[in-house]
Amino acid sequence: MSLNRQLRLGSILHGASGNMSAWRHPAALADASINFDFIKNTAIKAEEGKLDFLFVADGLYINEGSIPHFLNRFEPLTLLSALASITSHVGLVGTVSTSYSEPFTVARQFASLDHLSNGRAGWNVVTSPLEGSAKNFSREKHPEHALRYRIADEYLDVVKGLWDSWEEDAFIRNKATGQFFDPAKLHPLDHHGNFFQVAGPLNIGRTPQGRPIIFQAGASDDGKKLAARHADAIFTHQETLETAQAFYHDVKGQLERVGRRPEDLHIFQGVSLIVGKDAEDVEHQYQVTAALVSIEDALNYLGRYFEHHDFSQYPLDAPFPDLGELGQNSFRSTTDEIKRNARERGLTLRQVALEAATPRPRFHGTAEQVADGLQHWFEAFAADGFIIHGGTPDTFPRFVDEVVPVLQARGLFRTEYPGTTLRESFGLTSPANQFAAQ
Ligand SMILES: Cc1cc2nc3c(=O)[nH]c(=O)nc-3n(C[C@H](O)[C@H](O)[C@H](O)COP(=O)(O)O)c2cc1C
Repeated sequence: MSLNRQLRLGSILHGASGNMSAWRHPAALADASINFDFIKNTAIKAEEGKLDFLFVADGLYINEGSIPHFLNRFEPLTLLSALASITSHVGLVGTVSTSYSEPFTVARQFASLDHLSNGRAGWNVVTSPLEGSAKNFSREKHPEHALRYRIADEYLDVVKGLWDSWEEDAFIRNKATGQFFDPAKLHPLDHHGNFFQVAGPLNIGRTPQGRPIIFQAGASDDGKKLAARHADAIFTHQETLETAQAFYHDVKGQLERVGRRPEDLHIFQGVSLIVGKDAEDVEHQYQVTAALVSIEDALNYLGRYFEHHDFSQYPLDAPFPDLGELGQNSFRSTTDEIKRNARERGLTLRQVALEAATPRPRFHGTAEQVADGLQHWFEAFAADGFIIHGGTPDTFPRFVDEVVPVLQARGLFRTEYPGTTLRESFGLTSPANQFAAQ
C-alpha cells in the first residue's frame, strides 16, 4: 500500500436527499431531484471543494411507495452529459444496470461521456435489485441474484473489449493521403459467450482515460468477486468500523488473488453526516429531519429493500417479523444486515423502520469532529474514501465550506486537482489496450 495514501471524496446527487420526507425540510428545494439549477450548483460546489466525483445512483422500477426522489428524477447519463459542459475537473459517475441494457449501447454511452468530459466518466455497475424492473423491460422474470452476477461478469468483459476497439493513435486523418485510420490499430471484438454475441468494433475511439472508471455497488460475495475482477472503485456501506474494516480487508485480499494490487481499487463508504456548531445544534438538525418522517413512510422505505414488501400487515411494536428468505433476490447484503441487526438488538418493527428511514448520521458534530471521524475510518483502513450523503438538505455546502478545509489542513485531502481526469484524481494508471502489440 502506498505510503502517501490520499483520501478521496465523492458526493451523491440525490435531490433533497434519499430521505423519504427530505423534500419537506425547510431548507430543501421540493423539486431538487429534477431541478437542473440546483444540481448545477451542487456540481460547482463539489468542484470548489476539489472533490473527486459526483455520483448518480439509479433504479428501474418505482411504485407509489417509492422515495419521492425516485419518482421524478433524471436519467444518469443524460444528466452527467449536461454537467460535463459546465464543469472541468470533477468526475461524473453514473449508475447503469447490466441486467437491463446491452453492452454495445452502454460501452458507447460511457465512451461518449468520457470524450465529452475530457476524461471524467465513471460507470457504477449494478445488477438491479428490484424484481419489478422486469416488467419495464418486456421480461417475464427478474434474473436471480447469482445469474445477475454471471451476466455482469461477461458483460464487463464485452464492454472492456469494445473500449479497446481502437488504439489511441488509430485515427490518422491524413487529408493528403486520404487515410482516415490505421487498420492495424482497429480490433473488432468477435465475442461469442453465454449471454452475449457481440461483433464490434465500437463506433467511437479510445477514450481520454483509456477507458472510463468502473465502480461496482453490491456487497455480497458475488458482488465483491465481480469488483475484484473488474472495478477501479467500490461503493459500499457498512454500519460499523469493524464491519467496514472486514469488508476492506476481504476485498483487498481478493484483489491480490486475481493478480491485482490493493491500490488498484478504491473502496468508498457511503456516509451520511451532519455538521453543526455544537452537539445541541447537531441534535436539533437531526430532530427537524427525523420529525418529517411518518411511520407509514418509514414502512414503505423499509419495504423497498424487501421487494416492496407490505410491512403494514405486522404489529408495529412487536419484534421484527421473521421474513424467511425474503430479500435474498433483491438487496441481499442490505436485507441480511437489517435482519441481523433486528435480531441481535431485539428491535421492534417500528424501531427498524424508523432507523432505516432516518438513520442517525454516522459522522456528526462540529467540522473538526466530522473530520476526526472520517480520518479515523480512513487511517484504520475501513475506507479509501467516502461518498457523502447529506444528513439534511443543506449539509453538502457546509461539508465543502467547513469540513473539507479541515481535511486539507491536516494534509489528508488535496488542495488542487492533480490533473483533469478522474483517473488522475484517483491516482490510477491508464490501462493497456488488451489487443495492442506489446
Ligand atoms: C451501497 C450500494 C449502492 C447501490 N446502488 C445501487 C443503485 O444505485 N442502483 C441499483 O440498481 N442498485 C444499486 N445497488 C444494488 C446492487 O447493485 C445489487 O443489485 C443488489 O444490492 C444485490 O447485490 P448485493 O447483494 O451484492 O449487494 C447498490 C448496492 C449497494 C450495496
